[in-house]
Amino acid sequence: MASIWVFHGPNLNLLGLREPEHYGSRTLAEINQEVVATANQVGIEAECRQTNHEGDLLDWIQALTADDFLILNPGAWTHTSYAIRDAIRAVKVPTVEVHLSNIHAREAFRANSVIAPVCIGQVSGLGADGYVLAMRYAIDYQNRRKK
Ligand code: DQA
Repeated sequence: MASIWVFHGPNLNLLGLREPEHYGSRTLAEINQEVVATANQVGIEAECRQTNHEGDLLDWIQALTADDFLILNPGAWTHTSYAIRDAIRAVKVPTVEVHLSNIHAREAFRANSVIAPVCIGQVSGLGADGYVLAMRYAIDYQNRRKK
């Protein structure tokens, strides 16, 4: 079983085609491949999933435990979903929020994340590299807990 999970929210399946000026030209499959390889290189399993259905994401989060680690790009649910925030808090899974674009430098509604207060931290504006950096942090975090 993977201990590090990467969940992507709505419209992120369109990466590569969708607003490349904000989200870059890489597809989700390419990003996932690099992120999983980063974990596998050090013998850690990681699994990536994407959904356009909020209930799916809630079910996936509820299936995690405090021993897992979650890297989450909630997409537009970042700005609206108290349900996702409550699920992260309920299962106490350590979480890093990732955004490809800098949500603080765009429309005003994007600057507010209702998810961020239940996360360890947020990576925003570093493009696909943000996921890899979050994965490196997750690997260190999980390795520290094993000691
Ligand atoms: C996003 C930023 C959100 O505001 C937007 O709704 C997305 C993508 C990002 O990765 O930059 O879907 O989460």
